[in-house]
Amino acid sequence: MKAIRFPENFALGAASAATQIDGDCRESNWYDWYLKGRIKDNSNPDIATDHRGHLEEDTRLMAEMGIRHYRFGLEWARLEPREGEFSEEELQKVRQEITLLRQNGIEVLLTLHHFSNPMWFERQGGFLRSGAVERYLAMVEYAVRGLGDLVGEYVTVNEPNVYAFCGYLGGGFPPGECNPLHALRIMKVLGECHRRAYRLIHTIHAEMGWPEPKVGFAAHMRAFTPYSARNLWHCLACRISEYLFQTRINRTYLLGNQGPYAEFLGLNYYARTATSGLGDGTLPGVAVNDLGWEIYPDGIVECCRKLHALLPQLPIYITENGTADNHDSFRRRYLYEHLKALTESGLPVTRYYHWCFVDNFEWLEGFTARFGLIHFDPVTHRRTVKKSGEFYARMIAEHGITEQMAREAAGEEYHYG
Ligand code: BGC
Repeated sequence: MKAIRFPENFALGAASAATQIDGDCRESNWYDWYLKGRIKDNSNPDIATDHRGHLEEDTRLMAEMGIRHYRFGLEWARLEPREGEFSEEELQKVRQEITLLRQNGIEVLLTLHHFSNPMWFERQGGFLRSGAVERYLAMVEYAVRGLGDLVGEYVTVNEPNVYAFCGYLGGGFPPGECNPLHALRIMKVLGECHRRAYRLIHTIHAEMGWPEPKVGFAAHMRAFTPYSARNLWHCLACRISEYLFQTRINRTYLLGNQGPYAEFLGLNYYARTATSGLGDGTLPGVAVNDLGWEIYPDGIVECCRKLHALLPQLPIYITENGTADNHDSFRRRYLYEHLKALTESGLPVTRYYHWCFVDNFEWLEGFTARFGLIHFDPVTHRRTVKKSGEFYARMIAEHGITEQMAREAAGEEYHYG
């Protein structure tokens, strides 16, 4: 088993999203979705992991593990509970959280939009309503003016393709539509949100005399392969799916007409898709996680290469990578293999934010799919560091993976589909 040494400028961190951890989201569309009975195990996002009630503990745990970079997000519904009415109290709470993180030596990457909307916005048609971009920008402006002295890095929107496909095509996410034209429109509108937010954040920072911010969006990319490489339809479907799902977005969001619109290339990578039509699929017999997603470490490099080809001068941040492993039985191996692939690629990857820190409210799956380095007990709210969490802390301390650690990781077993 091979030891790995991370490059000097490479740092490990953790990622999360407000609705998945904070609790207190009654004004959001995900609370409404929960009330409609749409969450598998009926977990309540209004509680989530009660991160807000465990701020000190979660921050201390993070610091003890050596984490120096944390990606977390705003809950728009709390920041602007009614259209045009912003909450100073919420802003202060976010400031306190960032201050606490910084006192613990942790720098933040702040996500401005991660799937959830205020109900007032959702009722008006969400990002399909006219003036949606302006509503989003008003929230961004309020947040950046109020927080920018403490924040140097931003993600404008998280995974516009997942948001569009799950909410407007698959119907699993709110608002539960199945309308391909709407899905395409949503991706276009969010592109405008990203590009305009990019400019706005830079303008505000310059106006206030704050350091130049680093801004990007979190692109969800999958590795694509035809189900059968000898089947022409599979090959064609593969190209079309990849183009519609990610290639087009990456180009228009990052390059636009007058780009680049980013200081870093954000990648959320989880799995490979095998196409036999315009949908998702998995090759037979491959290693899979507890949600049936293929574990395919080379895919993270394939996706990085595609982003890198667009803007080779920019650093790559892995804004999310992780796996649903409910019994923590293969996460160390997953970590080892993905970080080995990244390190050996020679690509300019400077950050890796593991998804996620404490097991969280996994959208439709509730707490039935566990991605955390820390175990969460939904009854007692107790946090317990997992084996993989200890492994992660060692990776940070060693700035790499020793031979002994690699051996431990390789001893773990995947399931096969
Ligand atoms: C999302 C996260 C989610 C993770 C695992 C990503 O698509 O950004 O919010 O929890 O995948 O499913």
